[in-house]
Amino acid sequence: MSQTPTILVFDSGLGGLTVFREIVRLRPGAHYVYVADDAYFPYGQHTEDEIVARVVPLVGDLIAEHTPDLVVIACNTASTLVMTHLREAYSVPFVGTVPAIKPACASSTTKRVSVLGTRGTVKREYTKALIRDFAQGCDVTLVGAENLASLAEAALRGERVSDDAVAAEIAPCFVNGQDSDGARTDTVVLACTHYPLLSGQMIALAPWVVDWIDPAPAIARRVSDLLGSANGTGEALPARFIFTSGQTPSPVLAMALEPFLGASPVG
Ligand code: SIN
Repeated sequence: MSQTPTILVFDSGLGGLTVFREIVRLRPGAHYVYVADDAYFPYGQHTEDEIVARVVPLVGDLIAEHTPDLVVIACNTASTLVMTHLREAYSVPFVGTVPAIKPACASSTTKRVSVLGTRGTVKREYTKALIRDFAQGCDVTLVGAENLASLAEAALRGERVSDDAVAAEIAPCFVNGQDSDGARTDTVVLACTHYPLLSGQMIALAPWVVDWIDPAPAIARRVSDLLGSANGTGEALPARFIFTSGQTPSPVLAMALEPFLGASPVG
């Protein structure tokens, strides 16, 4: 591991910034390359075969170009599918982002948990296996949102996202309502890195108070553990920010990115 480690953070778009910001908090001295595969966004609307065929060679090209010490796949839709392929193909350490079902079921008091992800993520065998292995005694509702990732991107780009649109996407998380024993969903797993970008609106629109589980801090701790003592210079180097579509950030987006990057983004 180099003294100033290079960390490549990969997502279908800008949702991975919610993970990125937590990693930067723990490791401000590392060198960061953030790649948004916006040319292919949203991943949730592609088939499993298409995502594997897209992500595995693309991440390989990025590894060859940027020689990272560690790669974070900051996208649930991709992580629930490609981690094994990536680990088989490339020797660099990978950290993925998968639904936090285990901690959610452990912390839920009512043992009623909803998992909010893209339609792809919630129907994956990987997600079903997490429920089988870690959700015994817990009633888990899987909710596949259609447009929430796109709404989160729109919000980051400064567009107005209506309450009605967000409320409609999160409503199925609360269908359990009140069971005959009086228990209702008390925990919602955010199984897409985009969704915390809308957390203010989601909290305000939820019909009752729940615990929203954002896995980003846990992912950042895992990254930090893997980096060990490689701390870098301690000074924030400018993060490299790449859109696969080749676009450069608009002034509004550049402003929105600043709190995440801690440095001006470059195209
Ligand atoms: C998407 O690209 O559809 C969402 C990405 C994610 O699941 O984190």
